[in-house]
Amino acid sequence: MSMTFKEALASYTEEFNTRLPEFFPLSGKPEGRVVEAMKYSVMNGGKRLRPFLVNETGKLFGKSFEETLRPAVSLECLHSYSLIHDDLPAMDNDDLRRGKPTCHKAFDEATAILAGDGLLTYAFEILSDPKTNLSTEIRLSLMALLSNAAGAFNGMVAGQMLDLYAERAPENNSETMIKHIEEMKTGRLIRYACEAGAVLGGASPAELQTLSDYARKIGIAFQIADDILDVEGEQALVGKTLHKDAAQGKMTFVSLYGLDKAKQLEQTCIDEAKQLLTRQFGTKAQTLCALADFIITRKY
Ligand code: IPE
Ligand code: IPE
Ligand code: MG
Ligand code: MG
Ligand code: MG
Repeated sequence: MSMTFKEALASYTEEFNTRLPEFFPLSGKPEGRVVEAMKYSVMNGGKRLRPFLVNETGKLFGKSFEETLRPAVSLECLHSYSLIHDDLPAMDNDDLRRGKPTCHKAFDEATAILAGDGLLTYAFEILSDPKTNLSTEIRLSLMALLSNAAGAFNGMVAGQMLDLYAERAPENNSETMIKHIEEMKTGRLIRYACEAGAVLGGASPAELQTLSDYARKIGIAFQIADDILDVEGEQALVGKTLHKDAAQGKMTFVSLYGLDKAKQLEQTCIDEAKQLLTRQFGTKAQTLCALADFIITRKY
């Protein structure tokens, strides 16, 4: 019997979480405090959607859990760093993440900054190791894609900068700018997840393009859903303090269009993403299509 999407995600997450601790050896040395903070933030729950995406796109090309594990861990490290820094007092100033105290609350601000730095750097250390893949070309390709997706030139850091700018100078906001924020701050890492699976799997240029287009659409839908959850979610399920975007004057799809139009938009993105994928990969892409649906129906 085939698994439902939720069972497939739960089963992957369990296996992934079992393997994570081996990446964070605790030394007992004084400087080990930063590793504790890194481990706390990475092991601290999380849907593991990005690792799951790396694995599922890899699977389209016959790659195993083991073959996608290190790139998946690397990406989750980078994502967790972005969350630690996003929650800092100077940024979104959040106390709750994944249902637990944020890193700077559980440790302290300086340790949280360093834990973020440590995770960002570690993501690339993991990728560069031959254990990740024997091909130097593939490893270099992954590192180039990830650094661009995470970076200040059209990547996640650029999106975060624009997110703060939009909050501080609302008179300059436009629809184009909000789309750009959402696409960069969240969409780029989601796109990288799919591209990583494709690169590991030796995808053809056409297959890579389809996965990249699919990812761009689910990435936008993912952030719209995050914005909607901030308004309509249940705190116990979401695990973050809600109703903060409006309170902080964040520019989101919800503030721009209102809830109804935002919901229509995310649905359109998901429908288009599924069409693209099915056209190229047929029934092999079932799980990735179900994942697209999950992105906008999730309650957490
Ligand atoms: C939250 O990402 C931050 C955004 C980019 C919107 P997730 O919703 O994937 O967070 P976790 O990893 O499941 O906690
Ligand atoms: C954050 O977007 C995106 C990141 C790069 C971390 P949000 O600020 O909306 O994410 P949450 O709602 O705090 O998870
Ligand atoms: Mg933010
Ligand atoms: Mg935030
Ligand atoms: Mg949010």
